Amino acid sequence: MLMNARFAMGTEVIQGRNSIEEMGAVIKSLSSKPSVMICTDKGIVNAGIAKKITEQLDENDISYQVFDEVVPNPKIKTVEEGRDFLHKHDLNLLLAVGGGSSIDTAKAIAVIHAGGGEIERYEGRDKLDCDALPIIAVPTTYGTGSEANKATLVTNEKTKTKMVIVTPQIQPTHAFIDPEMMVKLPAAIGAATAVDALTHAIESYTSKIAQPITDGLNLHAISLITMNAPSAAMRQDDYESTTKVAIGSTMAGMAFGNTGLGLVHAISHAIGGITDVAHGVLNAILLPYVMEFNLPAVSDRYRQVGEVMGVDMNGISDVEGAKMTCEKVRELCQLLEIPTRLKDVGISSDIFEETAIIALKDGNYLRNRREATKKDIQNILLNAL
Ligand SMILES: [Fe+2]
Repeated sequence: MLMNARFAMGTEVIQGRNSIEEMGAVIKSLSSKPSVMICTDKGIVNAGIAKKITEQLDENDISYQVFDEVVPNPKIKTVEEGRDFLHKHDLNLLLAVGGGSSIDTAKAIAVIHAGGGEIERYEGRDKLDCDALPIIAVPTTYGTGSEANKATLVTNEKTKTKMVIVTPQIQPTHAFIDPEMMVKLPAAIGAATAVDALTHAIESYTSKIAQPITDGLNLHAISLITMNAPSAAMRQDDYESTTKVAIGSTMAGMAFGNTGLGLVHAISHAIGGITDVAHGVLNAILLPYVMEFNLPAVSDRYRQVGEVMGVDMNGISDVEGAKMTCEKVRELCQLLEIPTRLKDVGISSDIFEETAIIALKDGNYLRNRREATKKDIQNILLNAL
């Protein structure tokens, strides 16, 4: 029987090649006197991607300042620097350009700008009780999903944890899914972020609070990402595949904003608080091992995942089908040439106990259908080593 459920919608998704040409009109619809803070990183600026955005703003006589201090796994210090930058230049709209780190940083800046004080006091759900500045998101990688939901993650270096802040005021009003902003992604980043997006869809589809609306989004996202990620990652001229993976990623973002994720993200967030290994790479390494652990609890759903990934499940039991899905995920990661072992990215067993303890406190752990103990998580990490 279906349980009662909520599904929040909010972000207007503007998609397609050169869709950023609509940026000026969108910004003017949000403010009669816009003054934009572009929140990005130096890599995006140096690659000439930010310039494509500033050209749009120049053409539309919209004033802006570029804050390019975003770092991977956003830290409290960067968020506070961004807030000070916003105050100094008296800006009134946040335009995040980049991967999840840029979008999450912009969201966190919006929170402390609106509510004041330190970011730590907003950790958790619905702690901001006033309006925040509008946010527009332009993802330049696939994985984030942050462009279409109301959550942000900020690394607390003191506690070595990722704080999750969820509040509707930081859901971007608009997201531009423009392959021109992604098609030249280095293959390794394209591959890792595509598998991050796939992980979002699989974890959301098997979340304890999955529902028909998120199921529809996730199954089609899994299909789009699986069928198009190899070409999107390997070829820097395949606009169609790039668009399809990017849209799949956004669909998964819409879904997991409502369902949460699972044990892969609980563990990768924990490792991400301790090391600076890229989030997408960690997820790609962990995904098949966590799926094998989860298999007894979700074999029917994993089998359905395999079907939309193109595996022939005719006459096969759920358990056998779920095992084939795990192998299909491994094949895809190998095809995308992503590291397959934790030791390949410099992680050793020294951090496994600490990782397991932190992972058990991550909100996504609560959405995982199979309960895991500290020992179970340590075993998953040992298998993935
Ligand atoms: Fe992720």
